[in-house]
Amino acid sequence: MAEPIRVVVTGAAGQIAYSLLYMIARGEVFGKDQPIILHLLDIPPMVGVLEGVVMELADCALPLLVEVKPTTDPAEGFKDVSAAFLVGAMPRKEGMERKDLLSANVKIFRTQGQALDKFAKKDVKVLVVGNPANTNALVCSSYAPSIPRENFSAMTRLDQNRATSQIAAKLGVPISAVNNIIIWGNHSSTQYPDAGQGKVTVGGAVKSVVEAVNDTSYLQGSFVETVQKRGAAVIAARKMSSAMSAAKAACDHMHDWWNGTAPGQFVSMGVFSDGSYDSPKDVIFSFPVEIKNKQWKIVSGLTLSDFAKTKLSVTGKELQEEKNEALSVLDSNVSNL
Ligand code: NAI
Repeated sequence: MAEPIRVVVTGAAGQIAYSLLYMIARGEVFGKDQPIILHLLDIPPMVGVLEGVVMELADCALPLLVEVKPTTDPAEGFKDVSAAFLVGAMPRKEGMERKDLLSANVKIFRTQGQALDKFAKKDVKVLVVGNPANTNALVCSSYAPSIPRENFSAMTRLDQNRATSQIAAKLGVPISAVNNIIIWGNHSSTQYPDAGQGKVTVGGAVKSVVEAVNDTSYLQGSFVETVQKRGAAVIAARKMSSAMSAAKAACDHMHDWWNGTAPGQFVSMGVFSDGSYDSPKDVIFSFPVEIKNKQWKIVSGLTLSDFAKTKLSVTGKELQEEKNEALSVLDSNVSNL
């Protein structure tokens, strides 16, 4: 058996974590031979709930789970971790302006960035799930200068999974037959779900999704809108936000980062933009990436339609605005943003 690795989940008493912790501890992310020490970080009012989660994890009798450490202290939570799922964030409350929400989250992700910088392993992989995920990841990284910025990412995998599922249903094929559906930009309603590079395997032959669907008005219309508004649709139906599917997507994201992607297959991750595809530089922008040896690389050379370019520009603009708003509430001494 390998040496155990330490993995932290923040927001550990919340609803996404309730599914996520189980999946991680079962070996679905880091492998069935990798023992895990789970750090559960939440805030002091949630200590009682955390105790219940610890009891349930014990009662699952999971062979890979070596130890569980519940804590409300970021120093303890981030100590020696190899992977961090940053799920906890300040939710939007009634009457809260976007700037107030951003400001509350900047404080949380500043503290967590500082704690990662001081206490985590230098090769820690950080996945930000808590919203606004892209900008929270940007803030977190800026307070952890000793950790490479490539190690910070934001989750758009749930959007990718939703989009892939829509295409599979439209074509009447299994999910596994559909690949390379991309989410571009922000994890928000401006994201651009793009089937333009998608591939589908039908009867052993690989076809482009565009050709197989053969319906531009669907691919540019209700497909895009359904994916963009799926989170709101789940809230309307369930009266609570997506949790099981968000946890699954977080596992998929970290699994592929850890283990790599298959040749020719790409996945969507919010990562530091290098300006590819005319996106704004130095924001956390969701791109198609390929992963090898735990390093992601933005897929280059894809041809985008004029429609796609317009959509990328809208979501890029929103990310730049979010970044400017975050900067306005950040300490003036943070210069590497
Ligand atoms: P939840 O409200 O059930 O749980 C959040 C937990 O975070 C709570 O236990 C809370 O006490 C904790 N928390 C708050 N501040 C914290 C801090 N400073 N340190 C540690 N823990 C802290 O929320 P849920 O449903 O689990 O969602 C969590 C976040 O994930 C939300 O921001 C939500 O918007 C976001 N989300 C993102 C998705 C994505 O695709 N990127 C998809 C679905 C949700």
